Amino acid sequence: MKAIFKKASLLLLGTLMSLAAAQAQNSPLDMDRFIDALMKRMTVEEKIGQLNLPVTGDITTGQAKSSDVAQKIEKGLVGGLFNLKGVDRILEVQKLAVEKSRLGIPLLFGMDVIHGYETIFPIPLGLSCTWDMAAIEQSARIAAIEASADGISWTFSPMVDISRDPRWGRVSEGSGEDPFLGGAIAQAMVLGYQGTDLKDQLHRNDEIMACVKHFALYGAGEAGRDYNTVDMSRNRMFNEYMYPYEAAVEAGVGSVMASFNEVDGIPATGNRWLMTDLLRDKWGFQGFVVTDFTGISEMVEHGVGDLQTVSALALNAGVDMDMVSEGFVGTLMKSIKEGKVRMATLNTACRRILEAKYKLGLFDNPYKYCDVNRPKRDIFTKEHRDVARKIAGESFVLLKNSAGVLPLKKQGTVAVIGPLGNTRSNMPGTWSVAARLNDYPSLYEGLKEMMAGKVNITYAKGSNLIGDAAYEERATMFGRSLNRDNRTDKELLDEALQTAAGADVIVAALGESSEMSGESSSRTELGLPDVQHTLLEALLKTGKPVVLTLFTGRPLTLTWEQEHVPAILNVWFGGSEAAYAIGDVLFGDVNPSGKLTMTFPKNVGQIPLFYNHKNTGRPLAEGKWFEKFRSNYLDVDNEPLYPFGYGLSYTTFQYSDIALSTPTLGKDGSVTAVVTVTNTGKRDGAEVVQLYIRDLVGSITRPVRELKGFNKIFLRAGESKTVSFKITPDLLRFYDYNLNYIAEPGDFDIMIGGDSQAVKTARLTLK
Ligand code: BGC
Repeated sequence: MKAIFKKASLLLLGTLMSLAAAQAQNSPLDMDRFIDALMKRMTVEEKIGQLNLPVTGDITTGQAKSSDVAQKIEKGLVGGLFNLKGVDRILEVQKLAVEKSRLGIPLLFGMDVIHGYETIFPIPLGLSCTWDMAAIEQSARIAAIEASADGISWTFSPMVDISRDPRWGRVSEGSGEDPFLGGAIAQAMVLGYQGTDLKDQLHRNDEIMACVKHFALYGAGEAGRDYNTVDMSRNRMFNEYMYPYEAAVEAGVGSVMASFNEVDGIPATGNRWLMTDLLRDKWGFQGFVVTDFTGISEMVEHGVGDLQTVSALALNAGVDMDMVSEGFVGTLMKSIKEGKVRMATLNTACRRILEAKYKLGLFDNPYKYCDVNRPKRDIFTKEHRDVARKIAGESFVLLKNSAGVLPLKKQGTVAVIGPLGNTRSNMPGTWSVAARLNDYPSLYEGLKEMMAGKVNITYAKGSNLIGDAAYEERATMFGRSLNRDNRTDKELLDEALQTAAGADVIVAALGESSEMSGESSSRTELGLPDVQHTLLEALLKTGKPVVLTLFTGRPLTLTWEQEHVPAILNVWFGGSEAAYAIGDVLFGDVNPSGKLTMTFPKNVGQIPLFYNHKNTGRPLAEGKWFEKFRSNYLDVDNEPLYPFGYGLSYTTFQYSDIALSTPTLGKDGSVTAVVTVTNTGKRDGAEVVQLYIRDLVGSITRPVRELKGFNKIFLRAGESKTVSFKITPDLLRFYDYNLNYIAEPGDFDIMIGGDSQAVKTARLTLK
């Protein structure tokens, strides 16, 4: 590869050649000198070109080479491309930039590598339910290895938007409702993608640049409708929503993506307070900011100006790269001439993008990520798939298991029934751009393969996904059809009941299709779709044990199911190995340990419902579900169906009382809170021990509890372990009315338990 580069360089780069060699010496000074020299040679058009990120066109056919994007690349009017799949194609396109453009500046190749590349891990919401930072980091690491083997140097991940509204389809892409956990996951993912040395210069070719998104507050859209308006106090912003973005910056994330929504009345993409005052001046972010897809031109629709105005607004706000709008290439020259944008501002943005390329090592070797021998060796390997299977098993949440229905015995006949029971393309889940949609086993296929010779596995579809065919079509896009069955509902049901009649146990594979959550997939009703509910009712009437194996990208309302179905296993969308991982858990080879990271409400009217809410001046008395003139509803209580942090196991755990090393904490001191956790059941299992803290009196109102620590432990049957958490004043800090980050003296409740409600409590005083 190096040889190709040298040849190209000799022909085209002239003096840059020696500068490229200088890069190898790797110091900030070398980078500055290299980029100074390069920028001196760049025309204004070429500088603007670096800020341009067009989409590739059809990712499967990779039209980039012959499209007008190709011409723009040759003219030096493109800084990067995204969602082009295949190292051969990327190599060809990179050659255009390196060999045909005047200065031979290499392109960035980005992609939405969100939860794996071809080896797919659970959707991020599922992944977060593992509470296993090492596993999450490893999933990002493997995604980086596979993506980089196929030419990708930049991923648009992690998505860290906190959300409390399961109507919003994109909750599937995030880590749930808690900022503390979200921040830890953001850091694990950045580390997994980037490794530790991107801050300086990346020497490896199997690590890639991450992009934290969507900055900011995208998860708080009104009414859970995608792209909708966000309006929030600064206080809530900083105490409840901003931390995961900041944590990613702290971990050295190379890029940040602006969100579609407005923040304080100004679209994020044009919001200088957000992109400069906060992100760069306060948090010290050193990388570059890219817009979301057409983020700049959408500001015309937001109503803040024409394309030229909004493009200038974005650049002046601190945005560096324009994804798809072509507002920068189309208008910045004019804005510079008219004095609406300063040359220095353009230079800064251009420099930031060149710095990212430098740090990735692309000037040293633009074909660094184009080793055509790597895909075979590094993508969708047995080793990666084994890890994905293990992590998927960890992400499932056992919501109910009465009368020990689970685990199933490895004998007899098990009927898999439901529209999600035999689909390959819906297994990986939403936002799996590089997935091999037809190569992953369906649940039915996976179980059959695993249980061959032991259990007779049968299958019937039982119902379509949704009664309304047009709705089903909207919910099964992007090649993830469920092959709508044209038989009548009754015919489908009769067949299912016949299959059920021959079985000992029914595994009802129901829920959402993968595209019922994800981008632009908001829903106002969160129950099982009509025809699936009818099917489930009929299956229960057979009197056979039914395990609801629930596919979903968001919390659903399962009040009826909780009452009537003996066992519910939430499997989210578990990725390429989901079928095997579900088999591992259903048949007891893996003991479920996932814990919810988003509250499951009883009905949609309770939304937004989240564990770390405020108390209000009229809270309900504990244990009551209605009291006149309290903050409540006439028709349903305030409690969730399943609280944050909840999840069952095939074993049981008991918590001791909390022992505090001292009941008072000095300004510079620390306290240790210790509990003993015992596995009181008959199986080995893992438990996520959770620490919550409540600040009882504050200068502003404080939440009833906030997650402040967690520790996932493994306990053999009968085994006990002590778990300790160190509490320092730092852990007690919050943003006060004036946005000072402080800890206020006073009393705190320290709570430790297996979910956000089942906790032991001790009192701590901060002096
Ligand atoms: C999404 C982003 C994504 C981008 C590029 C947008 O529609 O909001 O999350 O990274 O497209 O595919």
